[in-house]
Amino acid sequence: MKTIYYAATSLDGFIATEDDSLDWLFSLGSLNDSSYPEFIAGVGALAMGSATYEWMLRNAENVAAQTGSAWPYTQPAWIFSTRKLPAIAGADIRFVSGDVRQAHAEMRAAAGASNIWIVGGGDLVGQFYDCGLLDQLIIQIGSCTLGAGKPLLPRQLLSPVLQLRSVRQMGSAMAELRYDVQKGEK
Ligand SMILES: NC(=O)c1ccc[n+]([C@@H]2O[C@H](COP(=O)([O-])OP(=O)(O)OC[C@H]3O[C@@H](n4cnc5c(N)ncnc54)[C@H](OP(=O)(O)O)[C@@H]3O)[C@@H](O)[C@H]2O)c1
Repeated sequence: MKTIYYAATSLDGFIATEDDSLDWLFSLGSLNDSSYPEFIAGVGALAMGSATYEWMLRNAENVAAQTGSAWPYTQPAWIFSTRKLPAIAGADIRFVSGDVRQAHAEMRAAAGASNIWIVGGGDLVGQFYDCGLLDQLIIQIGSCTLGAGKPLLPRQLLSPVLQLRSVRQMGSAMAELRYDVQKGEK
């Protein structure tokens, strides 16, 4: 029953280019050969910010071609935005805004004994971290750099530092690190 940030980053700490492209990521390997299938099977609710959601909207055709649906998640999803965004037909989503604690309580109730996935972006994950609601990070580090882009986690996590739990090599283009967030005084 953990709240987990599961994401892939470039070696220099970006989860997307400045113009929200993920093309660099898909050349690094297939989701199905990663820890993703096992991870998503344990997820009961998920949250994402509007730029991540808008990527899904822009890439709906590609996503549908690859997964069979423009919205590949069966779990209920919370989309954070201050704007009115179009819904995706058939998707179990609700649009929310502001304090993440309210949404987290709703996600916890919906997820039951399963995990909560904070999809991203980095600042939204930071908002959960700021409220003491983030338990774990599972980060795939790609063997590439972007030079600039959307940051993995724009926060200072200095004290207590993250606890490194595992390191796994996935081919020659990815490494996966798992960390627990230590709760305590920042
Ligand atoms: N590599 C990976 O594994 C991975 C994982 C996740 C995402 N991504 C990609 O990385 C990029 C992330 O973009 P991003 O860093 O801009 O983050 P984002 O979280 O997707 O979007 C940020 C926007 O969400 C809205 N928002 C955030 N917190 C909010 C709150 N508490 N209340 C209301 N609205 C809130 C705000 O926009 P508005 O209010 O204007 O709507 C904010 O500008 C996307 O391109 C995504 O596709 C990659």
